[in-house]
Amino acid sequence: MFLSSIQLRNFRNLADQRLEFPAQGVALVGDNGQGKTNLLEAIYYLEIFRSFRGAADEQLVRFGEEVFRVEGEARTPEGTQKVAAAFDRRAKRKKVTVNGSEPERLGDALGTVGVVVFSPSDVAIVAGSPGERRRFLDIVLSLTAPGYLHALQKYRQVLAQRNALLRRAAPTLVVSAWDDGLVTWGCRLIAARARWVDERAAAFARHVRGIADGGAATIAYEPSIPAYAEQAAALDPDQLGEAFTHELGRSRDRESRRGMTLVGPHRDDLRIRGRDIATGAWTDLRTFGSGGQQRTAAIALRMIEAETLREKAADEPIILLDDVFAELDPGRSRRILEWVENEEGGQVILTAPKETDVEVRGGALPRWSIRDGVVSPL
Ligand SMILES: Nc1ncnc2c1ncn2[C@@H]1O[C@H](COP(=O)(O)OP(=O)(O)OP(=O)(O)O)[C@@H](O)[C@H]1O
Ligand SMILES: [Mg+2]
Repeated sequence: MFLSSIQLRNFRNLADQRLEFPAQGVALVGDNGQGKTNLLEAIYYLEIFRSFRGAADEQLVRFGEEVFRVEGEARTPEGTQKVAAAFDRRAKRKKVTVNGSEPERLGDALGTVGVVVFSPSDVAIVAGSPGERRRFLDIVLSLTAPGYLHALQKYRQVLAQRNALLRRAAPTLVVSAWDDGLVTWGCRLIAARARWVDERAAAFARHVRGIADGGAATIAYEPSIPAYAEQAAALDPDQLGEAFTHELGRSRDRESRRGMTLVGPHRDDLRIRGRDIATGAWTDLRTFGSGGQQRTAAIALRMIEAETLREKAADEPIILLDDVFAELDPGRSRRILEWVENEEGGQVILTAPKETDVEVRGGALPRWSIRDGVVSPL
């Protein structure tokens, strides 16, 4: 799939403009603060209708304006798809349309355009809080696993209710009325995440070896239900449900003391371990990884995300590379580019502050420059 055009209005510092993208992509060159990441943010917005930088919609509206609008046209195997999103700051209203009509639920429009962003801030997926890793898993699975988004929404509703009751010290019987819902929806999330991590672990390890010569790293799902920490992917839903229910029972007192739900997928994590090249010892990359190891692992996670999207859609996602070569040594950069070339081969939109950083496809990508939010071909 590729993005053939985008129409922008009051999105961050980007001027009102329409851009036509070549099928192979472009290299966007511009000084710091000119709007390179803003443009990638606008493109990604068309996939999940949220900022990949974690910014609230209010922040995306150009200073002094009320409404932003992004409209993209993507060529997919199913034909041309027109996805538009607008947000009104005053009314706090977001409107999304696909081919001109508003979907019944926002979830139905998610992933119409397949996009994966590689950004230096991805290192937070590895080095940041468990919440960052859960968010990563939730986005990949909401886009690719049938029923996942629905289960996630249901789980969050039940969790919010249960937590509200625990916070105001409601009687145990009242709190535990929500346990069944928590377990039912929670098990779907745990099972889907554990299965995905299991399926992708080998590819993750291969990518790490490929990016970092001699490097080794592994991923594993780390549920907050300790009895099954090592085998969540292998459990059938009934066993998982029993373990979850049992753990809730054991945590009853702690939960009422702390006033919140302490077990479940909202407390799970993705374990990322790596082998130290010097000593050969395995360490937890989340806390002990070097900057380079953490960046490598983050890139490998994006690669398995891209492969998952590609398999789901039977089509290459659009790859956005936000200044990713700035922090990597030439060998690592080259191997990432080889992956983009060989395995993905779809549209690549990359940004760099200096033209010398733009090496993708032997420099064959058309160059665009950006200045003060205005894009022009070089
Ligand atoms: N809501 C907004 N309205 C207007 N301008 C904004 C808004 N949000 C951010 N900006 C401006 O966008 C600019 C930053 O754009 P962006 O992050 O895309 O830069 P960049 O080209 O990626 O730079 P770098 O090379 O440093 O990463 C800043 O100058 C900021 O003031
Ligand atoms: Mg930037």
